[in-house]
Amino acid sequence: MALTKLFIASALITAVLAVLQQSVSLDGDALQTCAVLEFQLPGRVSFRGSDGYQSQTDSYWATNQGELLSACHVTPRDSTDLQKVMFLIYHTGSSFAIKSGGHSVVANTSNVDDDVVIDLELLNHVTIQADQMIVDVGTGARWKDVYQKLEGMNYGIAGARAGSVGVGGYLLGGGLSPFSGIVGWACDGIALLEVVLANGTILEVDHNNDPDHLMALKGGGSNFGIISRARLELVKTSNKLDVAFIQYQMLDVMHVVRAITEYNHLAAQDPEAAVSVSVGGRLDESPTISAVLSHRQGVLDSKVLQPFFDVSHYLVRHERLSQLELSQIYDDMNPKGFRQHRTTATIHNDEKSLVGIVQSYVFDLDPKLGNLGEANMRGGLLIQPLTYPHLHHGSLAASNMLGLQKEPSPLLLLSAEMRYSNSCSDSFVHQSLTDFMNGAHEYAAENNASHRFRYLNYASADQFPFEHVQQNQELWSEVQAAKQKYDPHNVFGKQMRHPFKVQHLV
Ligand SMILES: Cc1cc2nc3c(=O)[nH]c(=O)nc-3n(C[C@H](O)[C@H](O)[C@H](O)COP(=O)(O)OP(=O)(O)OC[C@H]3O[C@@H](n4cnc5c(N)ncnc54)[C@H](O)[C@@H]3O)c2cc1C
Ligand SMILES: *[C@@H]1O[C@H](CO)[C@@H](O)[C@H](O)[C@H]1NC(C)=O
Ligand SMILES: *[C@@H]1O[C@H](CO)[C@@H](O)[C@H](O)[C@H]1NC(C)=O
Ligand SMILES: *[C@@H]1O[C@H](CO)[C@@H](O)[C@H](O)[C@H]1NC(C)=O
Repeated sequence: MALTKLFIASALITAVLAVLQQSVSLDGDALQTCAVLEFQLPGRVSFRGSDGYQSQTDSYWATNQGELLSACHVTPRDSTDLQKVMFLIYHTGSSFAIKSGGHSVVANTSNVDDDVVIDLELLNHVTIQADQMIVDVGTGARWKDVYQKLEGMNYGIAGARAGSVGVGGYLLGGGLSPFSGIVGWACDGIALLEVVLANGTILEVDHNNDPDHLMALKGGGSNFGIISRARLELVKTSNKLDVAFIQYQMLDVMHVVRAITEYNHLAAQDPEAAVSVSVGGRLDESPTISAVLSHRQGVLDSKVLQPFFDVSHYLVRHERLSQLELSQIYDDMNPKGFRQHRTTATIHNDEKSLVGIVQSYVFDLDPKLGNLGEANMRGGLLIQPLTYPHLHHGSLAASNMLGLQKEPSPLLLLSAEMRYSNSCSDSFVHQSLTDFMNGAHEYAAENNASHRFRYLNYASADQFPFEHVQQNQELWSEVQAAKQKYDPHNVFGKQMRHPFKVQHLV
């Protein structure tokens, strides 16, 4: 039945294409593609100036993403719709972008001028199969939709801290979560993916069916196909986390840095703890240091977290929160409607390097951008330990494209982030963050502590997240094999403008 429908659909498109080919040249013109899509999927395409277009534009987190003017947004209702969309885009050669939750801050990733945006927002079903400890999620769902379903259950899931982040982009970039110490990257918990390939073929990829190539999809971004659905493992833990929000004084910064590296060193002893520390705040005030510490139970009693409590601190808030409640707090702290820019670095767990980088943030970058005098500008240096149990979670079954499973020691993931309003500040902000991160890497290199990993979910357009994978011959040949199998014509390289591409060498 489904096949017959598809056949009729394809025959129809072919007929439409033939008609179009006679009247207009099919050179990938996006508006023509949009018109055919509207014919194919009536009511699912929104054009500039319409209310639907505006509400999709408003659904992006960063205005520098939302302000781009696509030719149209198409919102497939299910994977069969998506299949038709992809089939047409493949045959017309149109450029396109894929959007799940729209939280990427890198222009051209989930929105793009004059091209087709495939908006997955309607693929947002969440079905929990508690007996099997899995959940089936449409990739257009937001994490809060998943947390909502888990409310009151005795399960957790590795998902984004902020609830409005999309399942799709987050998972395909790796996914850091408060459960990273227990289950690794969120993408390690992928049991199955439904993938729509460039020619419209729908595949289900899991550990039995094509396990070799599943690896490349975990952390490989949008280089292989559109992921329409993910089956994810639940975490056997209470859905509630014990969370402490802490603040420190800037004069204690050295002690806090020492606490971070000490924790990271000890973390294997208690994988249920999680830490993120941020230095920054409003740029017209002096920076502050805040930390969010969490644990399945007894955050104040965890030995590995003790270093953070040993430093003189102010306990802002301490309570047991469900993932939904916690994700709401993060959403409140990260409102949409601003220009956003971020850039990332990874270093070894080296105290001296981290001290130097934090000092450079506090004494160079923060005042430099503060001098722009933009009201309400905020920024921060986010420091997240990539602990040993996080990186080494699982075995080959959890193999992923982040390529860090053989790291001999823990790492520190850094992200420098700015939020502001004036587009005139764009180039200065971008350049300043790039200079800062280059300096951070150079300084870490002087201390033998630099690392090549660039986290896809935090990378800026001028960074290349797959560099260290490319240097790992074994991993890279698997990636190339996956590319050859799933996207042999490199449609996801040639017809998308996003900067994070796996080079297709075959
Ligand atoms: C407030 C906030 C909190 C965050 N918290 C965390 C966190 O706790 N942990 C963490 O690891 N990261 C976090 N991030 C980073 C986040 O993971 C990335 O920004 C991620 O790209 C967002 O996914 P999205 O679906 O919302 O974004 P989108 O902008 O929709 O997509 C991002 C990229 O993924 C591609 N893509 C999306 N869906 C698909 C799909 N189904 N198939 C193929 N390609 C697809 C898009 O084309 C685009 O290139 C956070 C970001 C923000 C803004
Ligand atoms: C986005 O793509 C356009 C068109 O290809 C390009 O001019 C622009 O520089 C890109 N922006 C970024 C941030 O890469
Ligand atoms: C870094 O490593 C090199 C080579 O192993 C060594 O010569 C140098 O002393 C090291 N530098 C530091 C700061 O540890
Ligand atoms: C679609 O592409 C896949 C991956 O290259 C290929 O295996 C499949 O045969 C193609 N299907 C059609 C109908 O061309």
